[in-house]
Amino acid sequence: MSDVSRVPSGSTLEIHDLHVAVGDKEILRGVNLTVKAGETHAIMGPNGSGKSTLAYAIAGHPKYTITSGRVLLDGADLLEMTVDERARAGLFLAMQYPVEVPGVSVSNFLRTAVTSMRGEAPKLRQFAKDLKTGMDALSIDAAFAQRNLNEGFSGGEKKRHEILQLELLKPKIAVLDETDSGLDVDALRVVSEGINRFRSSGETGVLLITHYTRILRYVKPDFVHVFAAGRIVEQGGPELADKLEAEGYEAYTKASA
Ligand SMILES: Nc1ncnc2c1ncn2[C@@H]1O[C@H](COP(=O)(O)OP(=O)(O)OP(=O)(O)O)[C@@H](O)[C@H]1O
Ligand SMILES: [Mg+2]
Repeated sequence: MSDVSRVPSGSTLEIHDLHVAVGDKEILRGVNLTVKAGETHAIMGPNGSGKSTLAYAIAGHPKYTITSGRVLLDGADLLEMTVDERARAGLFLAMQYPVEVPGVSVSNFLRTAVTSMRGEAPKLRQFAKDLKTGMDALSIDAAFAQRNLNEGFSGGEKKRHEILQLELLKPKIAVLDETDSGLDVDALRVVSEGINRFRSSGETGVLLITHYTRILRYVKPDFVHVFAAGRIVEQGGPELADKLEAEGYEAYTKASA
């Protein structure tokens, strides 16, 4: 992983001293984080500590104002890019609360997303084949492709749909916010296997935001970061997740209050 003599084949996301506000409220207060291809980073932390804000800010959500700091993808300034350009540069964000889009089917949405990422439309027949392969791998029923985007999706369907997007879009860096919440045991396994397939190439980086160590048993992180009050207050390996599960966040929330 840290063999400096090897030329890295994948991408790097660098976050430097990021400060983000919503309105005049400062939420992120200096986040530093680097995610390289082949690495999986877990971000854990109490409710309201700013984890989703980090994901939205990186993705370019207009509500989140970057007050200072830098975010680079392979050296290019991500914050200067439009939301579309960020996706084309290889960034993928799965949101905690995805929006419903009536009148747009899952299949149409995915084809449009693949088109905007590649800069050209995939051949219909090939796309249909890839879509079927991805859906089969995630045990998604064929009828799902014709449903309206996110409309009435159950928690589990939303999450499987996220992983389906990963499989089809093959981004360089994936930010997954609460991908494990609301999943039953079988769905958690299917979704985790999907993430593991996605990262098995070693050419993609994953930033996994989660509350629970349950998913981390299936998707082993290389690094665990603890978020409290808008910054990273501790970092460690996978063992840190077990410590958090046993002891909670109180030690961190007290210290940063
Ligand atoms: N669009 C917004 N408008 C107003 N306040 C916001 C907005 N987005 C985030 N906040 C505030 O910023 C703080 C951090 O929220 P955020 O959603 O990033 O937390 P989180 O760590 O993801 O929490 P959770 O674990 O509950 O998902 C909260 O106090 C929240 O109310
Ligand atoms: Mg959140």
